[in-house]
Amino acid sequence: MGGAWAPGRALAALLLTASALSAALLVPGAPPEPDADAAQPRDVDKKNHIELKMDQALLLIQNELPKTNLTVYWTSDRCYHCLPQVLASVSRSGKPGKLSTTAVAVSTQHKSILQLNDTLDDKELCRLEYEFGEFGNYTLLVTHVHNDASEIACDLLVNKNPIDSNLPVSIAFLIGLMLIIVISLLKFLLSLDDFNNWISKAMHSRETDRLINSELGAPSRTGPLGGHDAQTETWPSPAARLRCVDTFRGFALIIMVFVNYGGGKYWYFKHASWNGLTVADLVFPWFVFIMGTSIFLSTTSAIRRGCSRLKLFGKVAWRSFLLIYIGIVIVNPNYCFGPLSWDKLRIPGVLQRLGVTYFVVAVLELLFAKNLPDTCALDGRILSLRYLMSDWPQWLIVLMLENMWLGLTLLLPVPGCPTGYLGPGGIGDWGKFPNCTGGAAGYIDRVLLGEDHLYQHPSSAVLYRTEVPFDPEGILGTINSIMTAYLGVQAGKILFYYKDSTKDILLRFGAWWFALGLVSVILTKATENEGFIPINKNLWSISYVTTMSSFAFFILFILYPVVDLKGLWTGAPFIYPGMNSILVYVGHEVFESYFPFQWKLEDSQSHREHLTQNIVATAVWVLIAYVLYKKKVFWKI
Ligand SMILES: *[C@@H]1O[C@H](CO)[C@@H](O)[C@H](O)[C@H]1NC(C)=O
Ligand SMILES: *[C@@H]1O[C@H](CO)[C@@H](O)[C@H](O)[C@H]1NC(C)=O
Repeated sequence: MGGAWAPGRALAALLLTASALSAALLVPGAPPEPDADAAQPRDVDKKNHIELKMDQALLLIQNELPKTNLTVYWTSDRCYHCLPQVLASVSRSGKPGKLSTTAVAVSTQHKSILQLNDTLDDKELCRLEYEFGEFGNYTLLVTHVHNDASEIACDLLVNKNPIDSNLPVSIAFLIGLMLIIVISLLKFLLSLDDFNNWISKAMHSRETDRLINSELGAPSRTGPLGGHDAQTETWPSPAARLRCVDTFRGFALIIMVFVNYGGGKYWYFKHASWNGLTVADLVFPWFVFIMGTSIFLSTTSAIRRGCSRLKLFGKVAWRSFLLIYIGIVIVNPNYCFGPLSWDKLRIPGVLQRLGVTYFVVAVLELLFAKNLPDTCALDGRILSLRYLMSDWPQWLIVLMLENMWLGLTLLLPVPGCPTGYLGPGGIGDWGKFPNCTGGAAGYIDRVLLGEDHLYQHPSSAVLYRTEVPFDPEGILGTINSIMTAYLGVQAGKILFYYKDSTKDILLRFGAWWFALGLVSVILTKATENEGFIPINKNLWSISYVTTMSSFAFFILFILYPVVDLKGLWTGAPFIYPGMNSILVYVGHEVFESYFPFQWKLEDSQSHREHLTQNIVATAVWVLIAYVLYKKKVFWKI
């Protein structure tokens, strides 16, 4: 949908994590500097002494015009409707043939748009778009066109070629791919070996005799009774854990850990500044979605086992409280800002949102789940929509909530801001609404929770230079996270009610995938910024929910047959963190700055070193999850 969405990158992230350990061999490696914030150009002194940071290039602006002072404006190509920012002023050269030079650092993350104006009357002299490369050295020469004093030419020259920033990602990707191939090959050879052994044994005459004898009626362990036992064992029982659910959860969690640790400081492994999707934006809603699926599967099986709903409610309430409490603890680390001050306590956060979402969706399940007959008795055709219709009161409530989101988002009057504003504020929308970041969502949080209790460094600060705090896990967005989890509940219902018919399951996953995809296309008009409601992670806009849920149904569409039905893939290594998600999430947040999750880098401005560090840290969490899995240690709250 949005321009920033790149399936290849999502795949890259998946393989990156798999390649983690081997990539660790690449480099030793610095504490995460406060973000280089490379999207912003910086004014620098004129002696060309510029310490280039990550994602920056050196640009020497040379003015050959004898009488014209220049003002150079800069915007990022990805900054939608942004007010150009002054990058530098270059004084006139004085005499013909002389040069006046100013050196600046320019961002290399996205394409830059440069505009050169006459300082005197602010008239545009020339304009160019260019994608600078990291650590390159460029000259922008401003001259009169030969023999024509009135015409001005701006020429860009490359003094030194940039480095290839994405090379480490490609290398990690290839290493990951190689690892997967080698492991699959090894597995294949091992199974081949067993096969060979079996063949040679079978060929052995005495063995063959024995086989023939047993075929002739001698009772043996491989009799019909044994066969029958084996079959009943593999028969899917309602309580059996679905591996695809754990695998999907683990997959989302591992990417979450990787991007939270910095994602190699690549922009596409960080959250989108405002509208659009990056790899980092994919995972949280998937996590919420799959939580919905699990809520359905676990409450349904608990109710079927005969647990009292009241007791289950107590458990749900306690768990939600714990999630919210642990969440508040881990979003307020005191080693960063000194001992916690009550005045600055951040209230919203990832676990808080999960806690509230869990509570609402689980209570909806407890209130309205029916004691349905055993699924085996389900009689196909007539009841083909049964899973949808059986709990219409839930749908009613969820749709009412969704209407509330739409109503508040689009109609709530916000002082000083246009009603229904969905933009980032800052320099976006030509700088007309600098303090309107997030429209109603931001306003509600500021009024109900207070500016000081919100996230202070929203991703919109990067491109759009917003100054007001905005919390990506705010109150209004929680409604849409409930919607996401409820769509996950639908996946659970499909898996549960149709477990005897693969065709029915895949058909329904496919239908949801398609329907939600279609809604997303309509809402966003298949654009990043120009839709009715653009895809936006900071707002958890409804198009974000439908898009991510559509992808989630697609992933289950693939995972269910591959992991559960055919057993082609065990779900390793994602299944281990997937089965211990709270531990891995809390652990990765708490131990973020401890060795071996972080160490001092030789060059803190190198993507390669950051990438290696982040992949190693992520891999260590996979390893920890694996060891705990082997020891059967699971942290459940
Ligand atoms: C960039 O290139 C210019 C022109 O070749 C050169 O004078 C300058 O020293 C270079 N700067 C750096 C930091 O390499
Ligand atoms: C936005 O907020 C800043 C700081 O709170 C303030 O200085 C500025 O005047 C505000 N701008 C507008 C247009 O309200």
